[in-house]
Amino acid sequence: MGSRILLTGGAGYIGSHTYVALVEAGHEVVILDNFSNARDDVPARLEMITGHPVAVERADVLDKAALARIFAAHRFDAVVHFAALKAVGESVQKPLEYIETNVAGLLNLLGAMRDAGVFRLVFSSSATVYAESEVMPLAEDAPRGYASTYAWTKLAGEQILEQVARSDARWAFGVLRYFNPAGAHDTGLIGEDPQDIPNNLMPYIAKVAVGELPALNVFGNDYPTPDGTGVRDYIHVVDLARGHALSLAALIATGRGHVVNLGTGRGYSVMEMLAAYSRACGRDLPHAVAPRRDGDLAAYWGDPRLAEAELGFRAARDLDDMCSTSWGWISRRANAPRG
Ligand code: NAD
Ligand code: WQD
Repeated sequence: MGSRILLTGGAGYIGSHTYVALVEAGHEVVILDNFSNARDDVPARLEMITGHPVAVERADVLDKAALARIFAAHRFDAVVHFAALKAVGESVQKPLEYIETNVAGLLNLLGAMRDAGVFRLVFSSSATVYAESEVMPLAEDAPRGYASTYAWTKLAGEQILEQVARSDARWAFGVLRYFNPAGAHDTGLIGEDPQDIPNNLMPYIAKVAVGELPALNVFGNDYPTPDGTGVRDYIHVVDLARGHALSLAALIATGRGHVVNLGTGRGYSVMEMLAAYSRACGRDLPHAVAPRRDGDLAAYWGDPRLAEAELGFRAARDLDDMCSTSWGWISRRANAPRG
């Protein structure tokens, strides 16, 4: 039977795809978002995809009174928490804003949940909580660490949940460590939508493909990897979204928490990504080799086995699917600027 779910950050990139997965799994979902990093038309697009009206609470996770009001107005069974700031470079420039949104926002949410008697939460963590390692793939028991304020906020979030879980057996947390999300929905109606010049590889390539940026800057081609460029574990956002539905199902069925990687278990290089995107959009995309980016690691990818054992989750979609759906989204979106 379906549950009633609060989806914070549900108008964002991963949140909007997860909205679709949760509705498809039979849940009743309310989106909470302040639209600081989402377009106003996302709910209308979600309605087109799902065929049902979309419930939205336009609110900020930093507003405790709004959270109390929203929890009083709906009787939620569980929460999926995406709302956060996510730009790694910016987090180092604006630590107070990142700590406030990502850490105080989580605390506010946990307080509102406790007061309303809601004890199940799925939390967006990240592979960025792993310390730098020579051992690949990264398994969930690998040492944790952080290299940016953003990473610290995710590590702090995990540690807060550990403390809270200890305090009362009713709490059950699904901590999902995403590797590198990529791709878009098959309909081309939702996808990743950065307002400025993208920080991440896939949205940057997408803007080159659509002609908004001249060429990809490849950040270093002298890493100790097969072609010298950085290697990451890219996971299709539709797979990632399904992982959240499985995490919720496990929390609800067992009342027991889990900490799992959501990745594919294999890495691709920057040049492999560029070649795959060129195939998807039908032309060779220009690139130039640029210096390494500060703080980047050569290569990492996740061990996907625990997610399969705990949740029955296995990524199903490949790199070509990530590129073709991204291209389907961005090429439709190109003529509709934000506003
Ligand atoms: P996103 O920016 O597209 O989505 C975040 C959403 O939260 C946006 O819709 C934004 O408007 C909303 N939001 C921000 N601050 C808010 C606030 N104070 N109150 C209410 N809503 C607020 O980002 P995303 O890529 O979809 O990431 C979702 C989550 O996954 C984040 O927690 C992020 O840290 C985490 N994550 C992302 C990646 C990635 O590479 N995209 C990787 C690992 C983890
Ligand atoms: C991927 C590869 C770059 C852009 C970041 C965060 C991480 C997580 C996901 C949230 C690297 C190369 C990139 C470009 C390039 N976020 N690159 N030219 O750095 O693995 O992870 O996003 O939790 O915390 O750190 O992702 O997409 O930025 O980079 O050559 O213009 O592409 O050097 O090898 P990253 P990314």
